[in-house]
Amino acid sequence: MTTDPLVVFTPSGKRGHFPIGTPILTAARQLGVDLDSVCGGRGICSKCQITPSYGEFPKHGVTVSEDALSEWNAVEQRYDDKRGLKPGRRLGCQASVQGDVVIDVPPESQVHRQVVRKAAAARAITMDPATRLYFVVVEEPDMHSPTGDLERLERALREQWKIDAITADLSLMSKLQPVLRKGKWEVTVAVHKGHKDNVARIVEIWPGLHEHGLYGLAIDLGSTTIAAHLTDLETGEVKASSGLMNPQIRFGEDLMSRVSYAMMNPGGDKEMTKAVREAINDLTTSIADEAGIDAALIVETVFVCNPVMHHLLLGLDPVELGQAPFALATSESMSLPAREMELTNMNPRALVYILPCIAGHVGADCAAVALSEEPGKSEDLVLIVDVGTNAEILLGNTHRVLACSSPTGPAFEGAQISSGQRAAPGAIERIEIDPVTKEPRFRVIGSENWSDEDGFDQDIATTGITGICGSGIIEAVAEMRIAGLLDESGLIGSAEQTGTPRCVPEGRTNSYLIHDASAEGGPRITVTQGDIRAIQLAKSALYAGARLLMDEMEVDRVDRVVLAGAFGAHISTKHAMVLGMIPDAPLDKVSSAGNAAGTGARIALCNIGSRAEIERVVREITKVETAIEPKFQDHFVAANAIPHKTDPFPELAQVVTLPAPSFNTGGGDDEKSGRRRRRRS
Ligand code: FES
Repeated sequence: MTTDPLVVFTPSGKRGHFPIGTPILTAARQLGVDLDSVCGGRGICSKCQITPSYGEFPKHGVTVSEDALSEWNAVEQRYDDKRGLKPGRRLGCQASVQGDVVIDVPPESQVHRQVVRKAAAARAITMDPATRLYFVVVEEPDMHSPTGDLERLERALREQWKIDAITADLSLMSKLQPVLRKGKWEVTVAVHKGHKDNVARIVEIWPGLHEHGLYGLAIDLGSTTIAAHLTDLETGEVKASSGLMNPQIRFGEDLMSRVSYAMMNPGGDKEMTKAVREAINDLTTSIADEAGIDAALIVETVFVCNPVMHHLLLGLDPVELGQAPFALATSESMSLPAREMELTNMNPRALVYILPCIAGHVGADCAAVALSEEPGKSEDLVLIVDVGTNAEILLGNTHRVLACSSPTGPAFEGAQISSGQRAAPGAIERIEIDPVTKEPRFRVIGSENWSDEDGFDQDIATTGITGICGSGIIEAVAEMRIAGLLDESGLIGSAEQTGTPRCVPEGRTNSYLIHDASAEGGPRITVTQGDIRAIQLAKSALYAGARLLMDEMEVDRVDRVVLAGAFGAHISTKHAMVLGMIPDAPLDKVSSAGNAAGTGARIALCNIGSRAEIERVVREITKVETAIEPKFQDHFVAANAIPHKTDPFPELAQVVTLPAPSFNTGGGDDEKSGRRRRRRS
């Protein structure tokens, strides 16, 4: 039986006996304990910090004496003087075993640390990025055994980090010699390892120990907006989030109009590719500025996007996506250098990963939602809807997962709405309408106060009230229905019919006035009949897509609903139900998942194993194509009423009592909707 001291690591519980004098870092490595190190135990990176515990540990069967570790040494003292170590901390590469000891590895010293996510039910992200930093000491050149600098760097990586078969491109080669000499043969390299080819690429090299971090971008490239999260590749922390409108909007509001633009205009696809790449370059610069980091430290970017955005980003002509059978150039994931996509404002050797598409119109954004929400691991039947300009819809459980994409249009994002705007300071995001007085009160982005509360005017002094964003317009329509300003068919009543002068005639229809600052030269914010129709079309498309998946699954009910996307994050369940946006589900089983596609992109950025996982999962997802399914149209028409006529949520009565006026006087706008109703009845 060994008499060597016992070392117990927490929280892993891994334990083993080690000879006196073994550095804790070495013990950790031999046991497979997750303890970080960039400098390879040279006492300069401080990544290996540990906390020894002293005293009785009956649970582990050890007593730890004060001299269980070697004495605090000069290296630790130097680090403490320079940077400061937290009380009780030691450097794992410096402290060595002298007796039985219990060692805690704090989260920030774990390589595969978990990233805390806000939503309690959401999956944790375990850090295991494709690109990592390694500090190496490289042998100096020698006349008697002549080898190249790259070969000696390669040997150092093999011997010190067990990294084989490295590659470096010409631009890296041109930095190699001066950096090695500047660092006096000590350098830090950022090495990217692909999950498919296992090739180790040197992405960047710095003299000495590089201490300014490594970053990645997770980009959700939507038809209307581009959202980016700048993420620390060591900690998983999101350093900055930023977004901008997709400039391709000028070529067409929705996907099909952009495909048409490419079909009708020779070179149109190239124009759109150029526009989106320029926007991503601008976004890269601005988000790095916002986080105060050098954009050259961005070494990886993950994209999630729908198939049309995917093709236009990659410079592929999307025309085949405009007609059945909607063939993609490739549905496989893509890994390629950023510079091949003219993404020039990040590290020149940065790599891009694009999640796989599922098929047809069901893209990498839907795959990202599947990665984030894991419907295939759900015991109960879950319906996940992620709303953007297209809705990505997944229905499934452990037996089967179905997916479709439904063309909701940009109304849910505030586009094609008369007073609509992107979610930005000054936009109305919440609204309530008093059912008795029919007066509105609202909140705008940038203020915690409602418009009738003290402090609101100060809050909005700089931004003003500029328009309505996607969540605001949905609440407005639902509140108008609750307040009796809107009938079941979606028709806005006149001032006489509703009893409020806020219902004002506009042509042959009526609008509801929310805010009027026109006297001071400000905007006049209304909800028009056209806005209501845009929302009705969007919500009907959403409902019809979900219903189609339920038909395919041969179910009439789902066990739970997860609302994702900007919509999921900001819209109350009540308002979604009043509108009849989603199929029936128990109220307490409807939850919000935030930006699931963006989260999927972050997961793929931070954890290389998740890339292989989603590539496997998408092969098991059955795609349902909405565009050619006749039942989609039937469901679409049936879903037009507010709330849905045949699926009006029995639970809705618990939340709100809806008046049922009919404002149709047989003319005006609503000959069309009258016809629609007649056809249905
Ligand atoms: S491993 Fe770098 S300081 Fe200990």
